[in-house]
Amino acid sequence: MLELYQYEISDIYDQELDAHGEYGYDLTRHFEGKRFFAHVVLVNGHYAGFALVALAMVTQKDGCWMEQFFILKKYRNADLGTALARHVFQTHPGPWEVGQMPRNLAAQVFWRKVISLLTGGCFTEVQVTEGWWQGVVQRFNYETAA
Ligand SMILES: CC(C)(COP(=O)(O)OP(=O)(O)OC[C@H]1O[C@@H](n2cnc3c(N)ncnc32)[C@H](O)[C@@H]1OP(=O)(O)O)[C@@H](O)C(=O)NCCC(=O)NCCS
Repeated sequence: MLELYQYEISDIYDQELDAHGEYGYDLTRHFEGKRFFAHVVLVNGHYAGFALVALAMVTQKDGCWMEQFFILKKYRNADLGTALARHVFQTHPGPWEVGQMPRNLAAQVFWRKVISLLTGGCFTEVQVTEGWWQGVVQRFNYETAA
């Protein structure tokens, strides 16, 4: 699924395939790290999407960063992305930062709606224009009772 995700965003995030014909996303930190998490969505036993969660690293040091988030095309527009986001935030309550690349306008619409819904509108948004990752970031504190 990571390969599908990388391909999907290849028109807004330039990458080349490696010698194996893969993007080859580096998951080393997720295999080794204690605070890196992967969540996979199944629908009737079939893979439908995933989320990768890492330590906050772009605008803050505390809490979590949504590193990757993807729903397969056939399962979109059925609130699965919303359900996955809710599950991930509930699993990792506390400070969050969720980022979208500047050209991923659809993801910005999606995340503003979903975060607004799940936080009752209690989030802030910043534009990150310097550093290793740049784009739009929503920040909030997710409480399990939300
Ligand atoms: C963005 C993505 C996760 C949405 O998943 P989904 O399961 O279709 O989302 P939902 O059905 O839960 O949609 C929730 C809300 O976001 C809106 N939304 C979802 N995709 C949208 C899009 N492409 N453009 C505009 N709004 C969108 C929906 O209309 C819905 O709003 P509504 O409740 O007012 O109708 C999915 O399209 C995807 O995986 N995209 C490619 C990867 C990507 O960009 N990931 C995000 C990286 S930051």
